[in-house]
Amino acid sequence: MTDDGQQDRQRALLDNIPDMAWLKDRKSRYLAVNSAYLKVIGRPEHEVIGNTPSAIWAPEIANIYLRTDRAVLKSGRRRRYEESRPDNNGEPRWFETIKAPIRNEAGRIVGTVGISRDITERRAAEDELLRSRSQLRELSSYLQSVREEERARISRELHDELGQTLTAMKIQLTWIRDHLSSPPDVLGLHIDRLVSVADHSVTNLRRIAADLRPIMLDELGLVSAIKWLTQNSAEMSGLDVSLSFDREDIAYSKDVSTGVFRIVQESLTNALRHGHARQVDISARHAANEFRLEIVDDGCGIDNVILPRDGLGLVGMRERAFSLGGSIDVSGAAHGGTRVSVRIPLDTPKVRTRR
Ligand SMILES: Nc1ncnc2c1ncn2[C@@H]1O[C@H](COP(=O)(O)OP(=O)(O)OP(=O)(O)O)[C@@H](O)[C@H]1O
Ligand SMILES: [Mg+2]
Repeated sequence: MTDDGQQDRQRALLDNIPDMAWLKDRKSRYLAVNSAYLKVIGRPEHEVIGNTPSAIWAPEIANIYLRTDRAVLKSGRRRRYEESRPDNNGEPRWFETIKAPIRNEAGRIVGTVGISRDITERRAAEDELLRSRSQLRELSSYLQSVREEERARISRELHDELGQTLTAMKIQLTWIRDHLSSPPDVLGLHIDRLVSVADHSVTNLRRIAADLRPIMLDELGLVSAIKWLTQNSAEMSGLDVSLSFDREDIAYSKDVSTGVFRIVQESLTNALRHGHARQVDISARHAANEFRLEIVDDGCGIDNVILPRDGLGLVGMRERAFSLGGSIDVSGAAHGGTRVSVRIPLDTPKVRTRR
């Protein structure tokens, strides 16, 4: 192949690269640049070839190019970096630049090759994506806390207001029954029925209030609330739940208590509903300002490779752990069930004063 033929091929190759591309010798002198490069700098080829970046770029930019050339020549390795540079109108633009050594047949480095791609739009799209993801997270966390506050309010009102009213009604009914002239008459029978309706309503009301938000979560703390939850699951569904907390004296913040409680609640529901589990082991360990919780069930297990997508339970659990600065991992357990591992950072643990 003639030298001319080789040059034509090199030119065809370079000019068909839509990004800026160039070849330089060991002293950073341009040996070839493509048309995209010339278009960006707005100068003819003869002003570039044989010159170093100092003759083309502003000194602070040229120095970076000379430094990165030297780094590639010295290390013999490919380098990739992102740089910001103003365009011809002074607007800042971002570029992804790759520089690599050129070796001769003997393996000696004789120069460098470079490609620089304008990634301004891509970066703007990435920034926008990150911004909107973080806005979505904020929104989700805000909605969760509003929902939690609303549940707490309704739960308290049900428990305190309606609960008191029903109890007062029952006391009055009992008084009337006790003061009837000659029991058991028909009236007495009806009053007995009313008393048992009131009793039944109080039980239901307590259950609904606790389902909304157990009052003990705010009054007695996370460990008591989880104990209540597991007992409740055992009674309602026959699930055998073991609980082991290495410490029960920590005063968790309201956010941590709520988040962890809801994660345990969703895990138990999932273990029953999807895993058809019979046994769940919940264990909590505290170490170096970190709270680790594991919920392991003996159900049918979850597919590690294709984690199911529908359902908001797992998404909600993840978001709750994330908004507390922690993380969560849901995977198949060794013996075939499902393991939920939660890690939540704690501020310096505060010891709870027992009530
Ligand atoms: N402990 C588990 N054992 C077996 N499969 C599980 C378990 N937990 C979750 N899964 C699987 O993961 C899917 C998603 O769970 P997720 O809690 O997100 O949604 P869901 O329970 O179906 O609906 P939602 O929680 O919104 O009411 C479930 O449908 C189920 O297939
Ligand atoms: Mg669920």
